Amino acid sequence: MIQKDVSLKPYNTFGFDVKAAYFTKISTLSDLVSIYKDNNLPSKKLVLGGGSNMLLLNDFDGLVIKIEFEGIEVTSEDTNHIYVKAASGVTWHGFVEQCISQNWAGVENLSLIPGTVGAAPMQNIGAYGVEIKDVFHSLEALNLETLQTETFNTQQCAFGYRESYFKHQGKNKYIILNVSFKLSKTPNFKTSYGIINDTLAAMGVADLSIAAISKAVIQIRQSKLPDPAEIGNSGSFFKNPEISDKSFAVFQEAFPEAPFYKISDSIYKIPAGWLIEQAGWKGFRKGDIGVHAKQALVLVNYGSGTGQEIKTLAMAIQDSVRNKFQITIEPEVNFIN
Ligand code: EPU
Repeated sequence: MIQKDVSLKPYNTFGFDVKAAYFTKISTLSDLVSIYKDNNLPSKKLVLGGGSNMLLLNDFDGLVIKIEFEGIEVTSEDTNHIYVKAASGVTWHGFVEQCISQNWAGVENLSLIPGTVGAAPMQNIGAYGVEIKDVFHSLEALNLETLQTETFNTQQCAFGYRESYFKHQGKNKYIILNVSFKLSKTPNFKTSYGIINDTLAAMGVADLSIAAISKAVIQIRQSKLPDPAEIGNSGSFFKNPEISDKSFAVFQEAFPEAPFYKISDSIYKIPAGWLIEQAGWKGFRKGDIGVHAKQALVLVNYGSGTGQEIKTLAMAIQDSVRNKFQITIEPEVNFIN
């Protein structure tokens, strides 16, 4: 069913009250293909998963398609691994919970990330030392030109830090239908991210398990990141910038206390949250928009804020970080007009 003039407030985690001229929910491949074959429908389309990584700037004057494919199934297994296929409309955390309850290891560090399974490979979601590419096997996507289904392996997805083929050459050309994961029967615990060990110790966990790691991650996220059900946000608004070894040497000379991650001999990553906090933005509020008080990387909508206001704030933050540090921070979220 196609509806007209639908508010997208419940469908984007920033909670912006913009309208879609046309809106539909789709739960089967044949219905999705029919939508793309129907020349009476607007050619301008926006595909929504959990709406957790987008900045809706205006009313959308085309057709919004909310993907609601459901289902999780085991497709095969071998001595050490279990292969699990999840439909793109499954909520990411729901998938993680299912994996934990079945003792399928690999995604526990990615607990409580908002959004859906289908959106996860788009930006190679990551947290606490794990990225989706580490457990990815393949995905099926609908080619919007041929309306045929295609399979992508890890290499074809061209995963990078919060990047994939689907944010670049494949942008707006495919809809992800399902994702297959290669999970482990014997867990390989990833606790090297300092705060995970600290939290596990504070929780008094003696026997490490994927359930314990998931609990620790949930506790950390809840202590730092606002719950979109309470305060509108899209997680990290910016990516952590990567700079060359030469720029890093200059930066470190001036700011010896700055945290950093060495990616390779020639690339260093600086936490954007630290840069934004040092530039004085943490806890900033103007009207109903602002910068989260516990994590400066997260921009928030307290209620009636708009995408345009967040965009203006993001640009002001970008400018002040550039002026203070000579480093450019780039948004992680997608701007939608
Ligand atoms: N920091 C500050 N001030 C802040 C925020 C952070 O000084 O306001 C410093 C921290 O003290 C720490 C460093 O920055 O030294 C890193 O902070 P944190 O561990 O919180 O991680 P992050 O780099 O800010 C990234 C991801 C998060 C992910 C965490 C944990 C990006 C853009 N963000 O944040 O992902 O949960 O690491 O792995 O890479 C997301 O993408 O939406 C997201 C939440």
